[in-house]
Amino acid sequence: YLSIAPAMAADAYPNKPITLVVPFSAGGPTDAVARLIAVPMGKDLGQTVIVENTVGAGGTIATTRVARAAPDGYILYLHHMGMATAPALYKKLPFDPMKDFEYIGQVVDVPMVLLGRKNFPANNFKELEAYIKVNKEKVTIANAGPGSVSQLCGLLLMSREGVELTTVPYKGTGPALTDLLGGQVDLLCDQTTQTVPYIKDNLVKAYGVTTLKRLPGLSNIPTLDEQGLKGFEVKAWHGLYAPKGTPPEVLAKINKALRVALNNPEVKARLGESNIEVVPMSKVTSESLKNQLDSEINKWGPVIRKAGAYAD
Ligand code: MLT
Repeated sequence: YLSIAPAMAADAYPNKPITLVVPFSAGGPTDAVARLIAVPMGKDLGQTVIVENTVGAGGTIATTRVARAAPDGYILYLHHMGMATAPALYKKLPFDPMKDFEYIGQVVDVPMVLLGRKNFPANNFKELEAYIKVNKEKVTIANAGPGSVSQLCGLLLMSREGVELTTVPYKGTGPALTDLLGGQVDLLCDQTTQTVPYIKDNLVKAYGVTTLKRLPGLSNIPTLDEQGLKGFEVKAWHGLYAPKGTPPEVLAKINKALRVALNNPEVKARLGESNIEVVPMSKVTSESLKNQLDSEINKWGPVIRKAGAYAD
């Protein structure tokens, strides 16, 4: 009798709402992607998928929460490449990204753009480079905390420019973008998820994109690579996770719901407007996400250590 209990539980899954944890503030880029996929995933699963923002410490508080949660399919986790950079940024972490999770699939790849406040003196990237060399001690750069992708982008920029700017950490790039719009901080390297309208309305200055090719929706903004930072490339890839030990039958249902959500035409159109690419379905697999995580841990670890960046 006992041995068939887990199978029965998987058959009944889901019989109550599912929580999708997001490691950054509401109104930010990770939150936006989560809310976009939560609705069609919920429809497919026949239960509401509720997005919950567990913020702080560059995403590591949320990752710890998910690692310790019951592996019953009622806690899912959407995180970006911060899952791969945290082990190098933190000397000690209460979780192991390669061991403490179930890997449901890759989700989207999100490009980034280096932004300045509207009235910042530099009008283009060349002027920005000249300005930060002379004024480094008074220039501020926002990020979403140690372990965030905005922090990584800022670190790479500072290390390539050979300057150290004053970093202002937030609990997500949602509030950081609000302060950039309000003129309280000078610079922010942000994902393109929410920035396109502000760039088009000239409410922020855009100095360059972090992809090697220009973006279709922002084709007048040069890449940082073409402006002299050869090879500068940061893409905030996202993955969907569950706590280790979540039953395989449950994971299969969640994976299917994720595929349905990513193939939804409205979801695709909304992502496309933000220059976000849905990954090919061949990457919406456990194996692909695990391989991606492994290769990104190995890629960024040495870069972060070379930049001498530690969160604690
Ligand atoms: C967010 O959702 O606020 C961002 O993904 C934070 C970040 O820059 O990593």
